[in-house]
Amino acid sequence: MDLSSVTVYAGGGFARYADVTVGLLTHGLQYGTGCFEGIRGYWSADDRELFLVLLRDHYERLTQSAKILTIGLPMGVDELIETTVELCLRNDYRTDIYIRPFAYKAAEDIGVRLHNVPDAFAIVPVPFTAYLDTSKGLHVCVSSWRRTDDTMAPPRAKITGLYVNSALAKSEAILNGYDEAILLSHDGHVSEGSAENIFLVRRGVLYTPDPSQNVLEGVTRKAIMDLARDELGIEVVERAIDRGELYCAQEVFFTGTAAGIGHVASVDRRTVGDGKIGPVTRRLNELYNRIVTGREPRYESWLTRAYASTRVSV
Ligand SMILES: Cc1ncc(COP(=O)(O)O)c(C=O)c1O
Repeated sequence: MDLSSVTVYAGGGFARYADVTVGLLTHGLQYGTGCFEGIRGYWSADDRELFLVLLRDHYERLTQSAKILTIGLPMGVDELIETTVELCLRNDYRTDIYIRPFAYKAAEDIGVRLHNVPDAFAIVPVPFTAYLDTSKGLHVCVSSWRRTDDTMAPPRAKITGLYVNSALAKSEAILNGYDEAILLSHDGHVSEGSAENIFLVRRGVLYTPDPSQNVLEGVTRKAIMDLARDELGIEVVERAIDRGELYCAQEVFFTGTAAGIGHVASVDRRTVGDGKIGPVTRRLNELYNRIVTGREPRYESWLTRAYASTRVSV
């Protein structure tokens, strides 16, 4: 993908991607001392609108991640939202997009630390390319890699360096012929996918690992729990989940901003249900897709209309 002409926000202003440079010894690059977000924008040709999904939730989580890393963000949540909308307007995208805001330790010297280091912040919006092919069932395995524990580095922060853990698990899964990995936490309970939260359905109840299982507190995870309770009227339980429960579940699915909702067809070569998308997953998936593409007015509050301000009302 040629990004050179994309307008980004960096160094306190707007610039062309090709004109921004980052030094080779930058701490965020050398030591992984940064944090980031992934935000989706859905283009609706019918509405001629770009719908940005749950922007506030993402920027609140970025603020939390930055706090954990003692990174000072240059602006508050409202201004982050305004800057993101401005960035969309400047790029004038007419396609689905993925927005990557990130903040990092910007010193260019040797010596790992968080203190006495200047911070930097940038936002890069790019056209969206499918992250996981969720149009078909996913064949997943339990990884031999364990999820990083909060006592090592807190997974509830979306920390750049923590993605080594995800990359090891993801590549192991792909190289072994699977589509995605499920990581267990250090004590053997189910944690999450390499970049998705996980849910399972057993006897009509929706289960997901509670936040103490070293999961990222996913924005989509919360949205799906709310929809399951409010719209499907089903019980949602957050608790520790055993590996064996994955093999007994009627439905298993992943949630994530990039992946959306991805139904799992098999875990460790054991077919989930009949291998097809189950009724709970299907209903949640359809509803979520309608909401993020602006077709459920009751959930308008989840969306920021990037281009609304440019329309002249007559
Ligand atoms: C490790 C991890 N877990 C879960 C998720 C899903 O989180 P969200 O729904 O906020 O995208 C992500 C995606 O960013 C992730 O990287």
